[in-house]
Amino acid sequence: MSDGQINLGAGKQPKARILVADDDRFYLQVFTDLIAGLGFESITATNGFDAIEKVQSHKPDILIVDVVMPGIDGFEVTRRLKDDPATMHLPIVIVTSLSDRGSKLKGLQFGADELLNKPVDETEFRARIGNLLKVKRYEDYLLEHGKRLEGEVVDKTVQLERAFEKIRHGYVETVYRLTLAAEYRDKETGSHIKRISLYSQLLARHMGLAEQEAEAIFFGSPMHDVGKIGIPDSVLLKDGTHTPEEFEIMKTHSTIGANILRDPDSVILQAAQEIALTHHERWDGKGYPMGLRGEEIPVSGRIVHLVDIYDALRSARPYKAPFDHMKACAIIDSEASRFDPEVLKGFHALAGEFRELFDGNRDENDLRKTSRL
Ligand SMILES: [Fe+2]
Repeated sequence: MSDGQINLGAGKQPKARILVADDDRFYLQVFTDLIAGLGFESITATNGFDAIEKVQSHKPDILIVDVVMPGIDGFEVTRRLKDDPATMHLPIVIVTSLSDRGSKLKGLQFGADELLNKPVDETEFRARIGNLLKVKRYEDYLLEHGKRLEGEVVDKTVQLERAFEKIRHGYVETVYRLTLAAEYRDKETGSHIKRISLYSQLLARHMGLAEQEAEAIFFGSPMHDVGKIGIPDSVLLKDGTHTPEEFEIMKTHSTIGANILRDPDSVILQAAQEIALTHHERWDGKGYPMGLRGEEIPVSGRIVHLVDIYDALRSARPYKAPFDHMKACAIIDSEASRFDPEVLKGFHALAGEFRELFDGNRDENDLRKTSRL
């Protein structure tokens, strides 16, 4: 294996290409002949600017550059190429006269990888070029290997993201369907559950909650009434007004829901449990089941309390026709003391979006019997 054909496991190497920059035609020919003798390809440049341009256009494996040239000299060519991330790995050989010690030092300071003397010693030339090519091939291999690994990591990351998205989608579907199953007796609709998610997330984001928290509320809020599965049919499905005793039973749906969702592992189920337990608590302390007041109530519960009422007001009930958006807003304002003032402020700011979410997410069966104000 010749010096120009170093194989580092990356397949057959192309023929090495060496750029020689010298304004002296004689030395250009000397170097060209030496390079041909090594079996490599040579390119020539006769000044510094030409050298830089050919490095960029021909991407040589090594640059041999004379110090003294018209325009910019070999030191400046070296400096510019070593400063550019695209060419900083190109091995550069500076050619100086044998006696010029100052130029040798300066060349090294400017980042040259090797120095060659004029007149050129053929044996030394072969050895130095051979060594530089080995280093260059190895660096190319590492760069290529790094890029390949980076590509593989990107591919795996995309695959993982897709898999995660599928799992998340399946999770959300399961939540919706199970919630719907639990509420089926109550004739809740899928669109109601979906709207609660959308309003709650909208309000949470508007109030500046962290995106993860807003997302947990989005996924957890549909389960707010899951505890109704534990309410007897005679109470849950009763037409007309509940007696005080029946209403006490209805109220237990919040604690039943929290029990169903107890000891959650995920942040989504934690939010779901918190919402199930507290979505009937009121800011003024007159809610249930615990009679919490103000900020004792988790923000998720304060948000869902309002959005659930808005949606109930907009929906048809056995005992009332659906109210339009303006009437629903007026009723909410008339009950302002029950809502967190910040949640209420957010609702006012987003009222147009609430109206659009309701109008854009309805189905024919939006008929509800419960979730009473
Ligand atoms: Fe409820």
